[in-house]
Amino acid sequence: MEINKIYNENCLITMSQMPDNFVDLTITSPPYDDLRNYNGFYFEFEKIVNELFRVTKNGGIVIWVVADATKNGSETGTSFKQALFFMKIGFNLHDTMIYYKNNPMPTAGKRYHQHFEYMFCFSKDSPKTFNPLTEHCRYNGMANMKNRGKNGELNYKKIERTTEKKVGNVFFYSIGGGISTKDNIAYQHPAIFPEQLVIDQIKTWTNENDLVYDCFMGSGTTAKAAILLNRKWLGSEISTEYVEIAYQRIKPYLQTLTLK
Ligand SMILES: C[S@@+](CC[C@H](N)C(=O)[O-])C[C@H]1O[C@@H](n2cnc3c(N)ncnc32)[C@H](O)[C@@H]1O
Repeated sequence: MEINKIYNENCLITMSQMPDNFVDLTITSPPYDDLRNYNGFYFEFEKIVNELFRVTKNGGIVIWVVADATKNGSETGTSFKQALFFMKIGFNLHDTMIYYKNNPMPTAGKRYHQHFEYMFCFSKDSPKTFNPLTEHCRYNGMANMKNRGKNGELNYKKIERTTEKKVGNVFFYSIGGGISTKDNIAYQHPAIFPEQLVIDQIKTWTNENDLVYDCFMGSGTTAKAAILLNRKWLGSEISTEYVEIAYQRIKPYLQTLTLK
């Protein structure tokens, strides 16, 4: 199967061409409830998740970024239902991470502003790759660690603290025109990922030359991030209009790769 390509088709067709245990990481964002009508296309959730399980390598990961619509006064709960289905067919719910929007669209009514989306991390077996993002530790150097012995006495042990620690599982991003990405053409799609979100997840769960897939490629954010990080990539996008936008967007980065 040809890689480094966006297939302009239903992702079920693309995945049907993939062998078992093929993809290291899928990072994607499905159409949410009927919040937006992406040129009128719909998706068959259960079939897609079954195929994702088959094509994901053992130790591979699916990052599923999703939120609920509000209907008849209630959030739909679709995100939870989808997560439970992933678990039912064999994925581990490895980490319920949060994509926190620093500057969301303000919402009216008797609810707080909607600041986050779920960023479910599903693994097929235990993750084979984990390159955690880190941040600076405020207190570093040697420290005393206390624990209580069997006789109740406090024992002190010197431990060496590192200067860096893993970040938490809430990821903060500013979004919007000129911020989610500098590629103006991407905003012709109504629901793009912040580019940094995809970069952070690809770095965490894959190594160079691993294969990254996005079954709902939209404006091509995953393709661009994979190219910049020297990963192989594959995408599916059912709308011809969005595929054209994605290719226009990634063209300069593809040329950079060829020049190397
Ligand atoms: C939330 S958007 C993804 C946006 C993308 N993350 C980005 O950064 O641009 C979902 C996309 O899925 C596409 N789509 C819907 N059903 C599909 C299917 N069955 N197969 C492939 N793509 C589909 C829609 O056209 C839409 O562009």
